[in-house]
Amino acid sequence: MPAPTIDEVRNLLRAVIDPELGDNIVDLGMAGDISLEDGIVTIGVKLTIRGCPLRAQIQKDIRSRLEVHPWVQKVKIDWGEMNADERSAVMSRARWNAKENAADTAVPNNARVLAIASGKGGVGKSSVTVNIAAALAAAGKTVGVLDADIWGFSIPRMLGMPDRLEAERINGSEKPKIIPNERVVGNGLLKVVSTGMLVEDEGTALMWRGLMLTKAVEQFLNDVHWGELDYLVIDMPPGTGDVQMGLARMLPRTDLLIVTTPAVSAQKVAIRAADMARRSFLRVAGVIENMSSFECAHGESYPLFGVGGGQALADEIGVELLGQVPIEPTVAAGGDSGEPVVLHGIGNAATVFARIAQRIIEDTPDVDEMAGCSARDEDIAVGVTVRRTLDPQA
Ligand SMILES: Nc1ncnc2c1ncn2[C@@H]1O[C@H](COP(=O)(O)OP(=O)(O)OP(=O)(O)O)[C@@H](O)[C@H]1O
Ligand SMILES: [Mg+2]
Repeated sequence: MPAPTIDEVRNLLRAVIDPELGDNIVDLGMAGDISLEDGIVTIGVKLTIRGCPLRAQIQKDIRSRLEVHPWVQKVKIDWGEMNADERSAVMSRARWNAKENAADTAVPNNARVLAIASGKGGVGKSSVTVNIAAALAAAGKTVGVLDADIWGFSIPRMLGMPDRLEAERINGSEKPKIIPNERVVGNGLLKVVSTGMLVEDEGTALMWRGLMLTKAVEQFLNDVHWGELDYLVIDMPPGTGDVQMGLARMLPRTDLLIVTTPAVSAQKVAIRAADMARRSFLRVAGVIENMSSFECAHGESYPLFGVGGGQALADEIGVELLGQVPIEPTVAAGGDSGEPVVLHGIGNAATVFARIAQRIIEDTPDVDEMAGCSARDEDIAVGVTVRRTLDPQA
């Protein structure tokens, strides 16, 4: 594998968002000199102030974004501090962004994007999507759900949300924006879009076949009035790499969660999804094993689809196995009735889904809880609360 060019490295770094300033570190001017030698990327990063509490997060993000490139063995970061002029330039850019972002179009910068993918169809991506999304909402989060399975959509049925989508002009925008359908879950909210909410029936959906997959997904990302979101969960179509590539281009900060069944043969197929992730430089955030075993009424467990595939896959890609969801008729029934099983807490599958959602929440930096850098203006509210600490160095 040849070394990436400096421009390619810079593009990968565009996925690293400074959550307080709501923009990526390249366009903010925080990423400086880049050098490449013997598998080692050395990059200069200037923080707005030396003791910036976001430093650890930025470091982690830079590493994980660059390490997906097969050439990269190691990432070295030379930390620096901006001078007063640079700091004021970055602040005015952030302020400008804050205004621009208010255009309500795209996915907000502080939303964590999780795409549920697999190497093959029918392993439970959509079931995982609706249950994780519902569990996140039940935990009080605002969760966007994007059904990227353009012709094979199943999200409307699985969430019991069959209504047509409406479009509206937002703040005098020229083009009307699609308004996601909403469903309140506990203290949280689901905001859902799917082609299933645009077409009359599955027959009409077939007529859309001429439409490019990526175009449709692009529309869902750009022409939907998402408003505030904590998470965007994307149900990926089976097999195709087009949508994944499109996502990598449009939302490079997307994290993939790969679903696999426990059979070792399935794990080999799932590796393809991870491979595709690597090629599109998307980060895999974890593996979820679905249909792990079936427990009968007498409490006996039957591993119908084999054992160990999830862990083997997680080990192979070097990420964590986030959970093993057993086969339970309530999962399928919940999908048919539009009531994700996790919302009713019945059985082990519900418990596992809830636990996975909890792990996702724990793994997502809560910008509201981080003390802000003292150099940052109070008035830059990029969908996040910016707090000011009294730092004598500022
Ligand atoms: N843990 C489970 N226990 C029981 N049934 C399940 C479980 N997970 C999924 N199913 C069922 O298996 C079938 C396939 O699941 P699902 O539609 O979620 O998979 P998918 O990966 O999204 O499929 P596709 O590739 O066609 O989009 C569905 O009927 C679903 O209800
Ligand atoms: Mg599906």
